[in-house]
Amino acid sequence: MKLQLLLVCFFYVLLSVPAQSRRSHRKFKPRFNFGKQHEHLNVIDDKIDDDADEDDVDAEWVFKMQEPDGQCNPNPCLNNGVCMERGSRNFRCDCPAPFKGKRCQKGPRVCRRGTCGRGDCVITSTAPFYECKCNEPFQPPNCRQAAEVCQNNPCKNGGTCVPDGTDFRCDCSEGFEGRFCHVGPNDCYEGDGESYRGNVSEAQNGVQCLYWNSHFILRTGTNPFTVFEDPDGLGPHNFCRNPDGDRQPWCFIRRGRRVQWEYCNVRKCSTEAGSTVPPVPTSTDDLSPSQFSTCGKPQPMRLASRIYGGLKSVPGAIPWQLSLQVNTRGQNYRHICGGALIDSCWALTAAHCISRNSDMVVVLGGLTLDSDEPAEQIIEVERAIVHNGYDSDSLSNDIALLKLKATNGVCARETRFVKAACLPDTALPYGKECTVSGWGATEESNSGSSHLLEAEVLLINSNTCSRPSVLGNTLDDGMICAGYLEGGVDSCQGDSGGPLTCDNNGTHVVYGLVSWGYGCALRNKPGVYTRVLHFLNWIRINMVA
Ligand code: ARG
Repeated sequence: MKLQLLLVCFFYVLLSVPAQSRRSHRKFKPRFNFGKQHEHLNVIDDKIDDDADEDDVDAEWVFKMQEPDGQCNPNPCLNNGVCMERGSRNFRCDCPAPFKGKRCQKGPRVCRRGTCGRGDCVITSTAPFYECKCNEPFQPPNCRQAAEVCQNNPCKNGGTCVPDGTDFRCDCSEGFEGRFCHVGPNDCYEGDGESYRGNVSEAQNGVQCLYWNSHFILRTGTNPFTVFEDPDGLGPHNFCRNPDGDRQPWCFIRRGRRVQWEYCNVRKCSTEAGSTVPPVPTSTDDLSPSQFSTCGKPQPMRLASRIYGGLKSVPGAIPWQLSLQVNTRGQNYRHICGGALIDSCWALTAAHCISRNSDMVVVLGGLTLDSDEPAEQIIEVERAIVHNGYDSDSLSNDIALLKLKATNGVCARETRFVKAACLPDTALPYGKECTVSGWGATEESNSGSSHLLEAEVLLINSNTCSRPSVLGNTLDDGMICAGYLEGGVDSCQGDSGGPLTCDNNGTHVVYGLVSWGYGCALRNKPGVYTRVLHFLNWIRINMVA
């Protein structure tokens, strides 16, 4: 049966799109076409906002992902709720009005089906606790009636409104742009755009950004005003911002029933061109070329946005994560697996990721597969050492060491974005929350995520995992399972070989490597990982070569 799984993985490998050719996949998202099919004074049907009733289910689901074990750290209360410990295992959230629920996740059910007709229902803190942001030419208060096109000139900064059937366009005055001419000539971002406070509200694919207080975002359990590192620039608007240390301003967009994020169509200020070079590594000078000064210490963790089962990783949070890429018969390199850097010239991955007769490189320090990033280091794999007990049928001993090729005596350079994880030296308790990361398949995309995602999973006792109703008699001593028996959060195809890291008193150890699973995120089918602790001797012996 596991052979079938392996075939599935192998199939994924064959199907995976060359990393370079995925560069533009986001551009094909459809444009919303506000108001196009509707005559003016048209009353719209109820289907537009048909998912409001799922609020609670979604919120609960996201919280399970980060079950805090009764602690107040991290704060389990949403929407600015204040957490209070109750005994050693429980907590209580004091919720500000109008929020309720164990974790203040239940907002007022003000944004219901059709509440805001052709518009976005945004949550406010004063009664009636919502406001409708209408899509032109639909009108407040409920965005159900459309004014005559161009009747209330929607174009800003002296722009002229030109009717175009039932839609319109704005002819902007010199220097202004955007659908509503709301983007001025000096509207650009510096550096990574953390300080950007401009007016661009359109994603790179042309889709209008959601308001930061849109109920579509809040109902996923993510409150942008509380989860991000620097929510200062956020407000009851839909302008692009960079509150989480990403590389440029971005925003949430809605696609059907889902909320996604996307980089924005915002210009980088030209004086800044070329100044995005990452900081020069400082700490390698007095080291021998093949060794890093530390392991297991990520950049101080910044809060990430929570999107479905995965978290969008921020730069430096998982600096040991690598993308293993192969090139068969002279094609472009493409991502096939993850891996974990354990020293300047050494990385771990899964044995089933190694294919003979293809050139391999590892890409370190990058977050996105579809764009070149300044912090990226691309290093050739000199040699892959596959465990000689690896069995492609049972996936026993699914581990391989990658020896990286040195250039001028240096393999990976230690930077803010590239660091090694430590090897574990002790068994960790079941129930411990660890982090799995990768570019593998998500509930949104079978072909994988272009942005590195991470998710919290729990280490599960092998006895529990070997129950007939769970994975049965399929695990050996070199495997450990992790995830949630209720399903929902898991690694998946394309994550293989990637790290399952656990924070052991402030040091991150690579406790597992993504190996296999029955489907992904299914109930009673947690993911199975190579138990790195079981292979310490093998790793030490082979790393000397
Ligand atoms: N074999 C897969 C790969 O090559 C990894 C599958 C992990 N599955 C899971 N449910 N955790 O990418």
